[in-house]
Amino acid sequence: MKTALIKAVGAYLPDHVLDNQQLSKMVDTNSEWIIERTGIHERRILKDKNLASSDMAVKAVQEIFDSGVCCAEDIDLLICATTTPDRVFPATANIISEKLGIKNAFSFDVSAACSGFLYALDCASNYIKTGQKKNVIVVGVDQMSSIIDYSDRATSIIFGDGAGAVLLQPATDKEAHLGIIDSCLYSDGIGEQYLHQKAGGSLHQTDKKTVDARQHFVYQNGAPVFKWAVSKMAEVVEEIMQRNKLSSKDIDWLVAHQANKRIIDATAKRAGLSDDKVMLNIDRYGNTTAATIPLCLYDYKDKLNKEDQLILCAFGGGFTWGSIYLRWAI
Ligand code: UT7
Repeated sequence: MKTALIKAVGAYLPDHVLDNQQLSKMVDTNSEWIIERTGIHERRILKDKNLASSDMAVKAVQEIFDSGVCCAEDIDLLICATTTPDRVFPATANIISEKLGIKNAFSFDVSAACSGFLYALDCASNYIKTGQKKNVIVVGVDQMSSIIDYSDRATSIIFGDGAGAVLLQPATDKEAHLGIIDSCLYSDGIGEQYLHQKAGGSLHQTDKKTVDARQHFVYQNGAPVFKWAVSKMAEVVEEIMQRNKLSSKDIDWLVAHQANKRIIDATAKRAGLSDDKVMLNIDRYGNTTAATIPLCLYDYKDKLNKEDQLILCAFGGGFTWGSIYLRWAI
């Protein structure tokens, strides 16, 4: 079995910056509180009403194609992790493939909120390991601004828009020790009560009442989500390190979902990792849901060395959570 290697990374962030000062004019909050409680200074917003998640994803994947490592015709699978699909159906992955001229692939969406990129990466890795697919794109994208109520200070301060994508290819014999080595993924539906969108699905169908009651936005009860996130992210990082006989000295980078700097710090501390090993961009982008992890990989790509050992981890709506252990191959 060949391991799956990340061979290229692409990203896209909309130009419009929404900073804490601007937010504090829109909702009862202030920059000091946001920075102290979350680590966020600003986030990006896709303003153009004619654009959607698929357009950001297309830009991220196009960057991979432009690097010359592969082209649209080579791709045999595209998986899109998103909580803000262009439409309920068809899958945003289908729309992305169409816009990019990807014709020799099947494509589908993964719905696992903030853990979506990890679920999708694990799935893609297994298609490569079994030899079924050879050029797989995994994209994490969210236009969170499309489901955020900017009069709700519990959610509007956190989220932002963005997209990140990776290309996976099978390892050659010489690269057999690199790539995606192990994963621990979990979910628990108990999380539904704490983090959800009230209406717009088959349970509470869209009508005038649901729109008037502002039920088409993210609802979050932050405190229990925070508690679960701190404990599960630390547990799942510990589990993957133990399973692979890794000590904190062996880890080069922790790539944690960027939901709250305090959650990232707590996870790193429990794993015995110093700040210089922790990827961080929450200050500039906020929580972009499925895009945070590939955006970190993109931002730190010049600091990554071949063979570096990375632990990816996430926690989010569902609840969903998990970790992936990989060795960098670029
Ligand atoms: O990515 C998907 C998973 N999501 C997460 O991992 C998010 C997890 N949760 C969190 O990150 C945090 O719970 C939040 C950032 C959402 C909230 O931070 P918190 O420290 O848990 O705040 P809190 O809701 O417990 O509120 C603490 C205080 C309250 O005031 P009192 O009652 O102590 O007087 C709130 O009213 O802070 C107040 N507060 C605010 N003040 C200014 C709550 N939100 C704000 C705000 N601006 N935006």
